[in-house]
Amino acid sequence: MDDRIVSQEATNDDQSMESGLRPLQFSEYIGQHKVKDNLSIFIEAAKMREECLDHVLLYGPPGLGKTTLAMIIANEMGVNIKTTSGPAIEKPGDLAAVLTALEPGDVLFIDEIHRLPRTIEEVLYPAMEDFCIDIMIGKDATARSVRLDLPPFTLIGATTRAGMLTAPLRDRFGVHARLEYYQPEELAKIVARSADLFQLDITEEASYEMARRSRGTPRIANRLLRRVRDFAMVQGDGLVTESIARNALEKLQVDKLGLDHIDHKLLKSIIETFAGGPVGVEAVAASIGEESHTLEDVYEPYLLQIGFLIRSPRGRMVSARVYEHFQLEVPEQ
Ligand SMILES: Nc1ncnc2c1ncn2[C@@H]1O[C@H](COP(=O)(O)OP(=O)(O)O)[C@@H](O)[C@H]1O
Ligand SMILES: [Mg+2]
Repeated sequence: MDDRIVSQEATNDDQSMESGLRPLQFSEYIGQHKVKDNLSIFIEAAKMREECLDHVLLYGPPGLGKTTLAMIIANEMGVNIKTTSGPAIEKPGDLAAVLTALEPGDVLFIDEIHRLPRTIEEVLYPAMEDFCIDIMIGKDATARSVRLDLPPFTLIGATTRAGMLTAPLRDRFGVHARLEYYQPEELAKIVARSADLFQLDITEEASYEMARRSRGTPRIANRLLRRVRDFAMVQGDGLVTESIARNALEKLQVDKLGLDHIDHKLLKSIIETFAGGPVGVEAVAASIGEESHTLEDVYEPYLLQIGFLIRSPRGRMVSARVYEHFQLEVPEQ
């Protein structure tokens, strides 16, 4: 659906690249200092007690490093990680099978945990709290519930929508870690690190050029680097310079703030058709030929984040900075 070069969601292309770029240790995981510092302490303490780490809930927008962090946690604990996702678990039995296959101390990573059906969530409660599950044996009149012990384990849940988790599930995580968007300096380091893994020579200025256009998101930074690398190989002598990066990013239609043609279309539509707003979401969506929920879930978050869009009780408005960005005259008032 969303194959924009500035999409936060992983594409198939990304997945093969990302496994090679994933940091494996805290020392390689750039930024997110608060989360990293706290987790390091909890991990160290758990190891000293020879216990598993408390269950960890990781939340934040796509592409900020939740899956990566889950793998690092397992690695730093020195245990295995088993991975599944909310939508992959359809029946209580699916979850029971995953849980009973765990070895003592393992990490179970459930991605998109907010998409776990409620009936399955209930299987998780005793598993998280007392390391046991109740399963039904037999059927109808002879059906009875049997309690099975599980080895101690750490559940790591990841979600882009912490607000969609039920309170009982959320409360069973001892550690809540919220990932934040990255600063350009951090993204520049991530670009430089990935370039190194690609065995690509890159100047610091070129790293920054990509960092500034990556919408605070490592996944986008790595994707831009991969595209820019193609330009550097064909148009230059392999060294990624600032001018090669800038030229490539212009060709890719990613502007100085990381906005692409869809962002431009959306913002210009509000300016040209609705005099800058306020205007209802439905009307904006119709004017650019999109569904309103796509607009809200995919197109708007970054524009709201950088203060280009403003949500008012009477609808969406563009800020003065949008006019400046497009070199238009800022209207009175
Ligand atoms: N803190 C970080 N330092 C270095 N690279 C990172 C960091 N966070 C994410 N990445 C890179 O970005 C990519 C996307 O991260 P991922 O963990 O898959 O995000 P999420 O699970 O939150 O969608 C990873 O392949 C990884 O290479
Ligand atoms: Mg992920």
